[in-house]
Amino acid sequence: MSAPEQIDVDIVVVGAGAAGLSAALTATAEGARVAVVTATALAQTASYWAQGGLAAALAIDDTPLLHLEDTERAGRELVRRSAAEVLVSEAPEMILGLQRRGVVFDADRHGNFALGLEGGHSRRRIVHAGGSATGRRLVRQLSAELVSQPSVIVREQRRAASLWQEEGRVLGVVCDDGLAVRARATIIAAGGAAALWSRTTNPPGSLGGGMLLAWGAGAAVADLEFVQFHPTAVTGVPGREGFLITEAIRGEGAVLLDPAGERFVEELAPRDEVATAIWNVLERTGAQAVQLDMRAVDPARFPNVVEALRSSGLDPARETIPVAPAAHYVMGGVVTDLHGDTGVPGLYAVGESACTGLHGANRLASNSLTECVVFGARAARAALGEPAIAPTGPPPAPEPAQDPQRTTQDAMWRHAGLVRDAEGLALLAADPHPLARLVARCALAREESRGSHVRRDFPQTDPGLAMHHAVVRGDEPHLEVWR
Ligand code: SIN
Repeated sequence: MSAPEQIDVDIVVVGAGAAGLSAALTATAEGARVAVVTATALAQTASYWAQGGLAAALAIDDTPLLHLEDTERAGRELVRRSAAEVLVSEAPEMILGLQRRGVVFDADRHGNFALGLEGGHSRRRIVHAGGSATGRRLVRQLSAELVSQPSVIVREQRRAASLWQEEGRVLGVVCDDGLAVRARATIIAAGGAAALWSRTTNPPGSLGGGMLLAWGAGAAVADLEFVQFHPTAVTGVPGREGFLITEAIRGEGAVLLDPAGERFVEELAPRDEVATAIWNVLERTGAQAVQLDMRAVDPARFPNVVEALRSSGLDPARETIPVAPAAHYVMGGVVTDLHGDTGVPGLYAVGESACTGLHGANRLASNSLTECVVFGARAARAALGEPAIAPTGPPPAPEPAQDPQRTTQDAMWRHAGLVRDAEGLALLAADPHPLARLVARCALAREESRGSHVRRDFPQTDPGLAMHHAVVRGDEPHLEVWR
């Protein structure tokens, strides 16, 4: 049997979604040798499925300051302003940079960006590619560029199973097949964890594996009580459970109807508000779904959504679509500074794996793809400043996967779903899955309702907890103020 492969590079990136691609391409452009390790095939990551776009203040009537204000308003007094300032100020130039790289964004007949509107935005500022195919177009373009780089090694369909660590410093990563990648810095860009909840919009692999790797190496995690429930995920349609219907469709006039056929919420309010309003209707009426009426929306604007619905026997041009909230995006993750640095020497995290505090208690729609590209690039530049240190011993053995049982996923939905209480969270805190336990502990520590975290037993927002993040460094979370 041949010995497992070993690779030596400057930077190893775990994950090939928008954040990983941005980090890898930035590092390559700086002259670095880069390895990318991805659990999926290239261009089939969670970002690939992202229907939303990239938020950036590009319109004539918009400014980064307005974008900042909307981000802070949606985040319910928990947004770390310094992180949001980075995002809103770097986003417009980042979009232009993607355009220069060949990403073709939707344009109006004058050739200007066709900017979409989504919940919580006071201006049209969402850039799309191919209507609701933005993630797909973006990762395809960036992946093609990545593989054309001679200084990049891509290893697909293998799981990053252990971090190679000596005396506290991370020296690389070991994959489940034994492949060892030695690097000056390791960037975790492995996506989120919303598939830990049984009802989710995410692909099945979004289980927080990157967060657990970093946590195991000594990084802190924070804000795990904040998971965003997307209001409009299809329900009750065989083969399409959890299929996401992009908020941009509500931006173009689709409305939500209760079982009596009445509108009950401002459809473009921030997501936490819309999801909670739907939840209340379902609780009050005993219905399994509310209806999304998109009959007035031009189907040609959102071809992949319309096609997916039609292939399941639903015609959105003629009938309403049954929808209910589903776990969509984890605001929390591995604590980092504004350059992706986790504080563990040699270890960086970006995108949904990370938590800069940017999203606060409720992410503003379409800020996350923007975050991936902006912060991915920042992390790569910072990571290149790490010293090259040769390991003194062999790489560690790969750790087995920590895949959740179905019972954990059901328990996450039941006890850490849209509405929680101490009793259910205490049960979850004893779950066999380590990330489920961390979510439960953060949620127990936050004895209030704020944004996407709704406690039945603490229904009010506690003004004293504004700007306080639940951070787990050792065992128990403690509340820290971030600016
Ligand atoms: C959507 O298009 O509704 C989802 C995009 C996002 O999560 O921001």
